[in-house]
Amino acid sequence: MSHTDNTAEALLTARGLHKSFGDNEVLRGIDLTLHRGEVVVLIGPSGSGKTTVLRALNGLETPDAGSIVVEGGPEIDFAPETKPSTRVQKQKRLALRDRSAMVFQHHNLFPHFTVLENVIEGPWRVQGRPKAEVVAEALTLLDRVGLADKADARPHQLSGGQQQRVGIVRALALKPDLLLFDEPTSALDPELVGEVLLVIKELADEGWTMAVVTHELSFAREAADHVLFMDGGVVVEQGPPAELFSAPKHERTQRFLTRIMRPLDGF
Ligand SMILES: Nc1ncnc2c1ncn2[C@@H]1O[C@H](COP(=O)(O)OP(=O)(O)O)[C@@H](O)[C@H]1O
Ligand SMILES: [Mg+2]
Repeated sequence: MSHTDNTAEALLTARGLHKSFGDNEVLRGIDLTLHRGEVVVLIGPSGSGKTTVLRALNGLETPDAGSIVVEGGPEIDFAPETKPSTRVQKQKRLALRDRSAMVFQHHNLFPHFTVLENVIEGPWRVQGRPKAEVVAEALTLLDRVGLADKADARPHQLSGGQQQRVGIVRALALKPDLLLFDEPTSALDPELVGEVLLVIKELADEGWTMAVVTHELSFAREAADHVLFMDGGVVVEQGPPAELFSAPKHERTQRFLTRIMRPLDGF
């Protein structure tokens, strides 16, 4: 399905997202549409607002203005003129929490929990689903990513790549509508990047809807339907990866791509 199709069919539509931290205007009007089964990759320099976008979609951050709607849910309007109380804002954010699940740069696993306990915490304790069912699903998911034998291990006994795969399983166990990945491989040793990208690519091939912040361009080329280049809190340019990477139209996009593709230039 093409990115420009009618938004009525979108799984998620974000419009005009603004966010400031003090005087720092981090998002200056972000529009983003995710259709079911679509993989959108976000790229852009450090500080351009990529993480803040994902956090807003996941309800971890309350935008100052704009709206987000996830299929089947209410349109959540963050319009400033309504001067919503903190409680109202929190309710709006919570309405988004269950719809997506986020995989972070650092896995954020509980160190004192086993792998299995980490995976079942959300669906069992937070979502309140039956423990036996949640455990069975968790073991199936761990098996899928090649970690069936690590269920009783603690996070520190795993490699960084294995920890990130547990992070992905923990997100899947929540049965979200969409997955959000925030630089899932950027903290890994180079030889561990491939095994994590492979899992993400398999999920994409299975039809998961996802937004992925990553600078792994060969992954983006293969997996992404659509790439957004952000800079200074706006989407500067977007398009299919083949177009955006081979023939970027904006000078800022060109400069950024040159920098990340040939990092030793200038030395
Ligand atoms: N909770 C916060 N409080 C204050 N400033 C923040 C906070 N989160 C992010 N920022 C600032 O917002 C800007 C964008 O951050 P971020 O969304 O993390 O960018 P990116 O992920 O593209 O590197 C940065 O200048 C960052 O310092
Ligand atoms: Mg970030």
